[in-house]
Amino acid sequence: MHPSLILLFISFSCSIAIRETVTPNNPLPDNETLISSDGSFSLGFFRHSSSSSNLYLGLWYSNITPKTIVWVANRKDPVINSNIAVLSISTNGNLLITNQNSTIIWSSGVTNVTNPVAQLLDTGNLVVRSDDDGQSYAWQGFDHPTDTLIAGMKLGVDFTKGLNKTLTAWTSSTDPSPSQYYAMMDIRGSPELVIGEGSEKMWRSGPWNGEGYSGIPETLTYSGFSFNFINNKQEITYSFTTNQSLISRLTVNASGIVQRWLLVDSSGLWNLMWYAPSDQCDFSPPCGPYATCNPNNSPKCDCIQGFKPKSPDKWVFRDATDGCVRKTPLDCKNGTDGFLTVPNTKLADTWNATVDTSLSLMECKAKCLNTCECNAYAPSDVRNGGSGCIIWTSELTDLRVFVSDSYGQDLYVRMALADLGKVLFVFILFILLLLF
Ligand SMILES: *[C@@H]1O[C@H](CO)[C@@H](O)[C@H](O)[C@H]1NC(C)=O
Ligand SMILES: *[C@@H]1O[C@H](CO)[C@@H](O)[C@H](O)[C@H]1NC(C)=O
Ligand SMILES: *[C@@H]1O[C@H](CO)[C@@H](O)[C@H](O)[C@H]1NC(C)=O
Ligand SMILES: *[C@@H]1O[C@H](CO)[C@@H](O)[C@H](O)[C@H]1NC(C)=O
Ligand SMILES: *[C@@H]1O[C@H](CO)[C@@H](O)[C@H](O)[C@H]1NC(C)=O
Ligand SMILES: *[C@@H]1O[C@H](CO)[C@@H](O)[C@H](O)[C@H]1NC(C)=O
Ligand SMILES: *[C@@H]1O[C@H](CO)[C@@H](O)[C@H](O)[C@H]1NC(C)=O
Ligand SMILES: *[C@@H]1O[C@H](CO)[C@@H](O)[C@H](O)[C@H]1NC(C)=O
Repeated sequence: MHPSLILLFISFSCSIAIRETVTPNNPLPDNETLISSDGSFSLGFFRHSSSSSNLYLGLWYSNITPKTIVWVANRKDPVINSNIAVLSISTNGNLLITNQNSTIIWSSGVTNVTNPVAQLLDTGNLVVRSDDDGQSYAWQGFDHPTDTLIAGMKLGVDFTKGLNKTLTAWTSSTDPSPSQYYAMMDIRGSPELVIGEGSEKMWRSGPWNGEGYSGIPETLTYSGFSFNFINNKQEITYSFTTNQSLISRLTVNASGIVQRWLLVDSSGLWNLMWYAPSDQCDFSPPCGPYATCNPNNSPKCDCIQGFKPKSPDKWVFRDATDGCVRKTPLDCKNGTDGFLTVPNTKLADTWNATVDTSLSLMECKAKCLNTCECNAYAPSDVRNGGSGCIIWTSELTDLRVFVSDSYGQDLYVRMALADLGKVLFVFILFILLLLF
């Protein structure tokens, strides 16, 4: 046989020696990788450049170049100034990353597993389970996301396990350590995704309304995706799956932007499908209370019908941050208030709103009318004509409207009769005249 053929044969037989597990007797050295059984994901140590002294344990798609790191175990604790790094598992199930001195640099912290085995699943989830029990996982990488949500991974709160799964951006494209930017599930009011910077809320997706997030209507047009939102006593989580031909990921980047990427099969490149915040209305809240934001209008902020600028002298100079106030006060006692429909909205911030998913839309309207502090209501689920009830007793903030008729949802804003539109007012006067 020709020597180069032998070489080819050797390298081929090496590359098919796929391993997907780490056991106490079989640790993973830094020059080897775990590969999931269907070959889609690889897990191993990486450096950002040959000159970098930091070694990280990361996860990437096996067949995508350049390497796209979607998960990092030891993002805060790189192996520094060591020629050697090893991933091992202790006999009681603790995953360990050690350096050349066998110093523990990172550990998973779970230490009660008998016959432990760590396995890289086809989904990209690195799990620790007992070899006696194939089903339940003592620890899993999916419970500890880095900056990326891949198919099947959940973002949100798991009350049963006491987990708050958030995405936290890398500090820079070469430094996986956590930055101040994160994406999380905000469970106050009607749950929604929020991008935060420290304690600041930078962007909100709008509540999940059964079809999607009211502020990300674009997802309704995606094909080959399914979005799963779970809101019950055990968990409030969001995840997505794609059909087999599609590979997609959601990340929060080092500038605090959430991005949805889709792999373009033909070119092998990632295509940016969507990102936020992206326009002037996204950076919340641009317009102040009781104003709507429409990036296609100039000026972008407008008072809701029946409201006027709170600070007219600032408003004329395009400073809308003080928002708007009612032209006519509500008249709860006389029972003459009505509702104005604001169509195609990303719902106002529901942080302080009350949500009751058991009510019908009619019951919601009645509840709002009977609550003198109620400023607005909306269904919490828009499917089948709308059901459930969100009631705002605080101001309506960070409200935006979409231009497309199929985007966003109706918001019902309570109004004094006089502000509900002249036509209705004249009509009622006309009826009164007829009666007397
Ligand atoms: C990894 O490095 C060790 C020690 O240098 C060596 O014995 C082993 O053959 C290497 N494995 C691979 C797959 O290169
Ligand atoms: C390993 O231990 C030696 C001797 O204590 C020390 O000089 C060296 O800095 C250590 N290396 C690492 C990577 O901790
Ligand atoms: C291991 O410990 C965790 C909490 O530390 C507990 O929730 C879990 O049930 C334990 N698992 C087993 C197999 O004992
Ligand atoms: C989850 O974590 C984020 C980011 O640290 C935090 O702002 C949020 O309040 C947490 N949510 C819960 C329910 O603990
Ligand atoms: C999978 O996605 C492709 C491309 O969008 C689409 O043509 C196909 O119908 C989808 N299949 C399923 C089962 O959703
Ligand atoms: C984050 O994403 C935005 C929008 O795609 C892009 O303009 C920006 O350069 C990105 N930031 C980094 C640090 O990659
Ligand atoms: C409410 O009714 C009272 C008594 O009929 C009347 O004096 C008052 O003007 C009414 N308020 C409004 C805002 O119409
Ligand atoms: C909700 O209430 C808190 C506490 O009163 C307040 O600081 C916050 O601005 C309110 N948020 C909204 C969106 O109304």
